[in-house]
Amino acid sequence: MVRHAKISIMKNNSILTIRRPDDWHLHLRDGELMAGVLADTAKQFARAIIMPNLKPPVTLVSQAEAYRARILKALPDGVDFQPLMTLYLTEATAPDEILRAKHSGFIHGVKLYPAGATTHSDAGVRDLSQCDGALRALEETGLPLLVHAEVTNPEVDIFDREAVFLEEILRPTLDRYPTLKVVVEHITTKQAVEFVSKGEDRVAATLTAHHLLYNRNAIFQGGIRPHLYCLPVLKREAHRQALLQAATSGSVRYFLGTDSAPHARHTKENACGCAGCYTAYSALELYVEAFDSVNALAHFEGFASLHGPAFYGLPVNEGHVRLQRTPSEVPAHLVRGGIEFIPLRAGEALAWSLLD
Ligand code: NCD
Ligand code: ZN
Ligand code: ZN
Repeated sequence: MVRHAKISIMKNNSILTIRRPDDWHLHLRDGELMAGVLADTAKQFARAIIMPNLKPPVTLVSQAEAYRARILKALPDGVDFQPLMTLYLTEATAPDEILRAKHSGFIHGVKLYPAGATTHSDAGVRDLSQCDGALRALEETGLPLLVHAEVTNPEVDIFDREAVFLEEILRPTLDRYPTLKVVVEHITTKQAVEFVSKGEDRVAATLTAHHLLYNRNAIFQGGIRPHLYCLPVLKREAHRQALLQAATSGSVRYFLGTDSAPHARHTKENACGCAGCYTAYSALELYVEAFDSVNALAHFEGFASLHGPAFYGLPVNEGHVRLQRTPSEVPAHLVRGGIEFIPLRAGEALAWSLLD
């Protein structure tokens, strides 16, 4: 039996205790940087789905195995954290590789990047019909397809690319593969909420903290703010409201995925800045603030700790984390693996603090 979130009624400095959560969408990168950012995630989350968009991408089980070993080796002593690995789908992915992925026991999903849609997606898929064998193997194994759901056609307005992808690519794909499990990653629109809420149980979605807390005005407030630029890009307020409603509804189809995506400060503060927000540093505090803003703390544990494991067929975590409604501050910058990063909310206050 799963114990329900405990909220101590102490008004301003309430403490929220939830079962230890997981991050179902995370970029750790590699090398020294990976070792640097890993601790930010591992202090809060027991497990994370590790995105495969390295350079070169993680397309083979053998590469995922080696990457997993590097992550485990980089963990600080005594820290209990499990990386849940993924493969990067290409038009050359062999169905046998999907079967091997399933048998590995450490690969939990296969990621679809439409080529050119986002950071390190150039090796991704141009024409999904070329992936028929791999998609059938996913159906056979039950491994989910994790989707960056945006079309890449430059004629489609950047704010419409998610909604167009869902209707033009994902809906026909779900029809063609009637048992394919799909996670629509980092959803940003009310169309995505409708798609997931009205769809079948085999389709779920992750939501980031930044899409729950900010709308597109924030990117331009007082000047251009490159650290709020990510893909899919933040949308207008009506979409943020729809996302918040979905996340806090208690529906098992929605779960936490930070999409924390570290890019060195100078690559974001640049004439052509990279897409991605570094949110791992204070992910739980940011999410709980979003839930608190609509008086939905009672649904936070499901979103953060229960719905993801249920979808992926994994047990829930042992142990708990505690958050307190007392302000804390995010540092103005962070250095990880010798590289400078600007985390989300840098130099500003958080309404909640992570205890323990
Ligand atoms: C991600 C990254 O930097 O790897 N960037 C982003 O803006 N979200 C890629 C992705 O998740 O699309
Ligand atoms: Zn993405
Ligand atoms: Zn991502």
